[in-house]
Amino acid sequence: MEQLGSIIDSAWAELVCGVKNRRHGFHLPTLSTSGDGGGPDGRVVVLRRVIPSERLILCHTDRRSGKVGQIAAQPEVLWVFYDFKRRLQLRVRATAQVLLEGPLFEEAWSRCTVDSRRCYLAPNPPGRPSDGPSANLPEALLEGRPSQEESEQGRSNFALVHTLAWSIEWLHLAAGGHRRARFVHRDPDGWTGEWLEP
Ligand SMILES: Cc1cc2nc3c(=O)[nH]c(=O)nc-3n(C[C@H](O)[C@H](O)[C@H](O)COP(=O)(O)O)c2cc1C
Repeated sequence: MEQLGSIIDSAWAELVCGVKNRRHGFHLPTLSTSGDGGGPDGRVVVLRRVIPSERLILCHTDRRSGKVGQIAAQPEVLWVFYDFKRRLQLRVRATAQVLLEGPLFEEAWSRCTVDSRRCYLAPNPPGRPSDGPSANLPEALLEGRPSQEESEQGRSNFALVHTLAWSIEWLHLAAGGHRRARFVHRDPDGWTGEWLEP
């Protein structure tokens, strides 16, 4: 029979796989926040870094984007991950902060490729109404990528979304019977799990 202890370890291992493996369903999770009017909001992002020992799940964003203000107003967020191949869903509750400096921020920016940095060269804040269809990129970058030096200008728009997980709900679909469990992190005990009816 599955052990709760090995399930939480394998859930974190799958999250780590989702960072590097672009074909893993966990590579493109939904990050939900409390929206500006108080209702829910959510969007797909790229999973950028996972540090299981620190319970950290990180993604990148434009610091002018709507989610940044939402996180400042209400830091409790929800990640939803689904991998089709493994038939595995994770719902991760976490406390978020938006980092604009510090070692994790510097590391994230320095690891960012020129192609990824291109979107941080957007002249206008993402989500602002525009007069017509817009790529929100400087004219010279519509067809190409910036040089390494040009890409450095994106740094002032770049932000690292740092989320500290405190609850993970695991759902595994299987023909012989689905399985569902919930884990909550409490100091000093670490992760404690319980089975749920699927
Ligand atoms: C496949 C895919 C990957 C995306 N990756 C990111 C990402 O890593 N970071 C990000 O801020 N937005 C990403 N987006 C755009 C977001 O879904 C969203 O439109 C944008 O961040 C604005 O959201 P907001 O107005 O709620 O802040 C991605 C969208 C798609 C479809």
